[in-house]
Amino acid sequence: MSKETSSSFQHHMQAQQGRLSSRLPGFYELPIGQRREIILGMNHLQTHDQTIQGEKLGDFSTLSAELVDVFIENGVGTFALPLGIATNFLINGQDILIPMAVEETSVLAAASHGAKLARAGGGFQTCSTAPIGTGQIQLYPREGFDYESVLQRERMALIDHANEGQHRLQARGGGARNLTWRYIEAIKSLVLYLDVDTRDAMGANMINTMCERLGKRVQDLIPCEMGLRILTNLCDKRLARARCVVPQAQLSNREFSGAEVVDRIEQAYLFAAHDVYRATTHNKGVMNGIDPVVIATGNDWRAVEAGAHAYCCRTGVYQPMTRWWKNSAGDLEGEIELPMAVGTVGGVTTLHPSAQASLRILGTPSAQGLAEIIVAVGLAQNLSALRALASEGIQRGHMSLHQGNMRLAAQKGASQH
Ligand code: MEV
Repeated sequence: MSKETSSSFQHHMQAQQGRLSSRLPGFYELPIGQRREIILGMNHLQTHDQTIQGEKLGDFSTLSAELVDVFIENGVGTFALPLGIATNFLINGQDILIPMAVEETSVLAAASHGAKLARAGGGFQTCSTAPIGTGQIQLYPREGFDYESVLQRERMALIDHANEGQHRLQARGGGARNLTWRYIEAIKSLVLYLDVDTRDAMGANMINTMCERLGKRVQDLIPCEMGLRILTNLCDKRLARARCVVPQAQLSNREFSGAEVVDRIEQAYLFAAHDVYRATTHNKGVMNGIDPVVIATGNDWRAVEAGAHAYCCRTGVYQPMTRWWKNSAGDLEGEIELPMAVGTVGGVTTLHPSAQASLRILGTPSAQGLAEIIVAVGLAQNLSALRALASEGIQRGHMSLHQGNMRLAAQKGASQH
């Protein structure tokens, strides 16, 4: 670390008196121990919970054999991933440090760089819909039976029935909200859709429990064979959105003016919008930002991945997850909208020490708040990738960061021969 970096850090620390700005120039040059100290020095972490300090945040890598045994079957150990902090994020005017668990070189650097570009335009503005998850109940009704009249008449009673036994969810303001249905002729199936406000939980278990319970009641009303009862991961009523503006001056480099880079990023987006091969890679880059935060907070990244990609196909053609355009001032503007079924309470999120530490670093957001942070990180990641791809290419930056990996791999290879 250079002297200059270290003294600018001291100055920064004094200025912030514990509650750090997410703008941490030189953070990447510090040794890991010092980076930890800075994160541990954050005001809201110090005052929040002392046990988190020593036992959880102090060691970012704990997962006891007891927890391994609770989380999965046949457990024999853990599989470690690096956990890092992406800097520079300003989301709805708030500085937020982003914990990311990922093995890929340059992902954290790129997220931090994208956040820095967006910061110059005021950071990310985000919003989200209520945390509504949906469960499906599939029935094969007896031919000719008037299920439509029964469902119309019983709809409210069925919603009430689904809510029975869900006192804790209801006390937190959640619960079943709506029931709709459609008949799929090709498979002779009546499919019921139960919408549930899951509040701060991801909610898979509660939705599945409610669907199984409701299925039994529906069978009493409609003569039928029962099919599947399970949530859908295409939770298109549970959306998170982020938007940002990057002043064109931020985008200039040795080869191109800022205005040229704005045009080139817009063209890069249009390429993805018109070519599914490019859209897939574009979206992989978005998920480079999303998955690591989902993982770091103990959430189900397979569910998030499945929902995100299905949502991109909602018009029948696979589309990019983000959209970029030149605004009337000639600056770059971008947005993202994705389903985001994540929770901040329950299951692994509550039990996993590193997930708890990550949530504390994020400022203990609600599930909706976390969903908004996650899509903002996806947008930053994509911005950084497109900026590089649309100008000098990604390999220069990537390979310079990747050198440590290659050196170790070469040493290992040499020692194995
Ligand atoms: C690499 O992990 C991700 C990128 O390929 C994304 C993209 O092409 O937009 C750089």
